[in-house]
Amino acid sequence: MEINANIEKVLFSPEEIRARIKELGESITSDYRGKKPIFIGILKGAVFFLADLARETDLPLKIDFISVSSYGMNSVSGDVNILRGAQTDLRGMDVIIVEDILDTGKTLSKLVSALAAQGAASVKTAVLLDKREARKVPFEADYVGFVSENAFLVGMGLDYAEEFRSLPYVGILKREYYEKDGIVIK
Ligand code: PRP
Repeated sequence: MEINANIEKVLFSPEEIRARIKELGESITSDYRGKKPIFIGILKGAVFFLADLARETDLPLKIDFISVSSYGMNSVSGDVNILRGAQTDLRGMDVIIVEDILDTGKTLSKLVSALAAQGAASVKTAVLLDKREARKVPFEADYVGFVSENAFLVGMGLDYAEEFRSLPYVGILKREYYEKDGIVIK
């Protein structure tokens, strides 16, 4: 596999990601046996993980997507607002919120309560990556692909200025790629 020239280091290869998502799908399949859960992906980052996880989950699934206000370019998390809510009536549904990355925890902690308030029977969370060191509010996901270091990650849905989302691996972006835009990551 050719690695993108702007990637410093690959943290999780396509093979590792595939194997881990298969395990997560098997866990969800056994935890939700007899139920018809709904995966709700958070746009845009969740689309690749959601598509892969759904295909490894052997249940009669529904899917939907919601959109929340994003950080902006400087990676500093602000308040979270729901811009587009679920188009599904969630009353009585078993919801699994699917995210590419759990970072400060602000997005998921807010969304879990927002979707529970819509009458969901249960609300759990599945994240491909967990940057545990970056947490600003206490939050733990129910299904975690990989715990990752607190670096500038791209690929598998994660972007820098909308680029690199479709890389089939998770990598650390070269510092010079964002420093050219005056972005400083501490
Ligand atoms: C990222 C990610 C999560 C959120 C996690 O989204 O996809 O939604 O940040 O961060 P938190 O735990 O600090 O709240 P982003 O705002 O970059 O939007 P995108 O998915 O469209 O890239």
